[in-house]
Amino acid sequence: MVVGGSGFVGRVVSRHLIDRFDAKVVCVGRRPQSDPAVREALYGDRVGYVQGDVTDPRQARRAITEAKGLLGEIHGVLFAGATRITGAPGALADLGEAEFRAHYEIKAAGARNVYEAVADEPLDFLCYFSSAQAFSFGGAGTHAAYAAGITSATPSPGPSPPGAAFPVGIVNWGAWRASFGVAARDYPTLGFLDDDEGAACFDTAVRLLRASRHRQVIGMRAPAPVTARGAERSGAAEGRRPSAPVAHDRRPELRGLLVARLARTLRVPKEDLSPSTAFADLGVDSITGSTFVAAIAEELGIELNAAALYEFSSVERLADHLNDLLAPAPQEPSAPHEPPAPSARPEPPATAPDDLIVKLEARFAAGELSAAEVLDLLDAELATREQR
Ligand SMILES: NC(=O)c1ccc[n+]([C@@H]2O[C@H](COP(=O)([O-])OP(=O)(O)OC[C@H]3O[C@@H](n4cnc5c(N)ncnc54)[C@H](OP(=O)(O)O)[C@@H]3O)[C@@H](O)[C@H]2O)c1
Repeated sequence: MVVGGSGFVGRVVSRHLIDRFDAKVVCVGRRPQSDPAVREALYGDRVGYVQGDVTDPRQARRAITEAKGLLGEIHGVLFAGATRITGAPGALADLGEAEFRAHYEIKAAGARNVYEAVADEPLDFLCYFSSAQAFSFGGAGTHAAYAAGITSATPSPGPSPPGAAFPVGIVNWGAWRASFGVAARDYPTLGFLDDDEGAACFDTAVRLLRASRHRQVIGMRAPAPVTARGAERSGAAEGRRPSAPVAHDRRPELRGLLVARLARTLRVPKEDLSPSTAFADLGVDSITGSTFVAAIAEELGIELNAAALYEFSSVERLADHLNDLLAPAPQEPSAPHEPPAPSARPEPPATAPDDLIVKLEARFAAGELSAAEVLDLLDAELATREQR
């Protein structure tokens, strides 16, 4: 049963369940079955449909009963419910209560109602879909109701209702290409999940959940690593940069630049932005983060992607990183070349990386395997290891 199966993500996963596992699927949503978007999601009537609003506990219970009537029995429940964000980013103070509740309730009350409605069913699993924003860019400054909803539905350190009779988990998704459509082109630094990648992530997440290995999984496409064009030109690896001599401390100038560009992106006065405050707490979300990073990369003539904001999570930390990145490459020592002292040799890693992962990584890098194929192979390997 897929709550929200007529949405972007729920539709892809429903079709995947049918095509790959020959599953019987029933979707739940508020719109009538005659709605064109719902009709399209029903995959030529291969998906069943129950109309209901799960923010109402009685309707949630009724939806489960009706879904059971259509399916015979329910083995798994996916919660992909959300209220689509169609308005422009806005501040919390500008949101009316009705609009706030429209986005918040499906995530908070809807998630709880569905759990309570299925709590006595002999399920194999219940899996909630949420957003990676719950950990990183709360979106609090721009999409406050959605941010509050996903944060409320993403308890830390992970979902585990006391006494649940079946595994309950959560996938925190990054952006799906399907939901951005052609607009994805406007966000070149944001990693987008293709349908097959998302479906493969989903399979892996459910396998981990059912094996009680991980209840919470983040499914996102990591953008390409941060590199400096200058560093590539000079052949200097970024990993060596921190030890390079810093010819000129550009941090104050970089902090000023970052604050100015961030203020412009968020449309707030510069004075409101403290360099030590986390980007998430300043209201940076994945969209504004992407715009901000693109502006900085353009201005400094470097390659930088939105992932940098996860790693260097405030103006101060990002300025430090950029200062290292822009520092001149270390001079090669002049002849004669001394053999490196033993202490200068790289330390072996504390634990050897999993051999399979190394091999898959190499085949992915060589273009032999797609991301979805890598995930599929990992999924199969997990299944084999579980059986051993
Ligand atoms: N799309 C992305 O790029 C993305 C990124 C990160 C996370 N996510 C997460 O993935 C999940 C799905 O997102 P999506 O983009 O597929 O959303 P979506 O396209 O807006 O679809 C949401 C679905 O939820 C249903 N729904 C909304 N309120 C409901 C209610 N009260 N009762 C029953 N059904 C309700 C909607 O159907 P009705 O309108 O007919 O009720 C629709 O089928 C969400 O948890 C979202 O936070 C998505």
